[in-house]
Parts: sequence; C-alpha cells; structure tokens
Amino acid sequence: MTAPRAWFFSLVVLLSMGLSACSYRPTIGPLKNSSTPSTGSQSASGEQIYFRSVDPQGNAITYTGGPAFGGMMMGSFLTCASCHGPEAQGGNHIMMGMQVMNAPGIAYPSLVAMAQQTTGKSSYTLDNFRNAVIQGTDVDGSRLSQEMPRWHMSDQDLADLFAFLKTLQ
Ligand code: HEC
Repeated sequence: MTAPRAWFFSLVVLLSMGLSACSYRPTIGPLKNSSTPSTGSQSASGEQIYFRSVDPQGNAITYTGGPAFGGMMMGSFLTCASCHGPEAQGGNHIMMGMQVMNAPGIAYPSLVAMAQQTTGKSSYTLDNFRNAVIQGTDVDGSRLSQEMPRWHMSDQDLADLFAFLKTLQ
C-alpha cells in the first residue's frame, strides 16, 4: 500500500503548488500606469521593459538565474514588476504561507537611500545600476542573492529602464 499512498501524496503536493497563488500578482497587461505618466520616449521604453520584459524593437529581454520557485510562482515569465512591484515599491512574496522572497524597492530615491546606507555616498549611478541588473553585484561589490535574476539587455535598454525608475517616487 505504500506505493499508491506516495503517489497520492505527491499528487496533492503538486496540486497545491500549482494552485497556491503568490500574494503578489504580476502586472503584465497595461503599459501605462496611471500614477506614472510617461513623458519622454526613453522612460516610456523603460516602462515597457519594466512591465513586460520587451525592448522597443519587440524582442524579449531574457535572464539567467532567478528564484528556484520562479516558474511556479509566475509562470516562468518574469518582469521587474513581478518582484519589485507595479510602482517599484518592493514586495514581500508569500507562497504557501511562507515568506519566500523579499524584493527591495527600486524607485530611484530608494536606490539612492540604499547606496547611502552601504557606502555613505548619496548617489546611485547608471554604472551601479548596470552592476546590479547585469552582473548581480551591489554598490559595495557584494553579490546580490540568486533570486535577483541576471538580465541580458543592451546599454540602451538599461539606460531606458534607469530613466523610467527616475520618474518614480
Ligand atoms: C524574481 C524576482 C526578481 C525579479 C524578476 C527582478 N528582481 Fe531585482 N531584486 C530581487 C531581489 C530578491 C533583490 C535583492 C537581492 C539582494 O539584496 O541580495 C533584487 C535587487 C535588485 C536591485 C539591487 C538593489 C540594491 O541592493 O542595490 C536592483 C537595482 C534590481 N533588483 C533591479 C531589477 C530590475 C531592473 C529588474 C528587471 C529587469 C529586476 N530587478 C527583476 C528580485 C527580483
């Protein structure tokens, strides 16, 4: 009788993993977000990357790494908004009652505040941003956790994204 029971148990586990929703719904649909009217085309491109992981030419922006549970939680389609939230305010992600990840706020003022905490200097540059998003290193050179994916994107896309984060409070 042990074999059927084990089978039944794994079925239950699989089902509950499939059904459990992340407490955070990724915002994939609308490009425009009422609280952040985009003005320049640069920040508009950045906004599209932030919410949809698609560059202005329509190419998907890809990544390596990311959380082990990423596929289950977000249908393996990650955007910055999936983890950092629709207003880049950051978010605590809960799955099956457990905290599985805490993503920091990354609106520009939050990035500056984080840099100040770590280095004492109140500036966060495009280079700092590139290191975090592409290399996965913090302002002080320490490695960010694997939960933050390592993104593959051009310098232009990176600059657009940074311009978009500068429009947020
Ligand atoms: C699967 C979740 C996830 C996704 C998707 C994600 N991030 Fe992150 N990100 C994190 C986590 C978690 C951290 C904190 C890592 C740490 O502190 O070790 C982080 C950290 C960061 C930081 C560093 C902040 C600092 O400490 O200096 C930046 C910048 C950042 N993310 C930008 C982005 C951008 C831009 C995107 C989209 C291209 C993105 N992230 C997508 C989870 C995510």
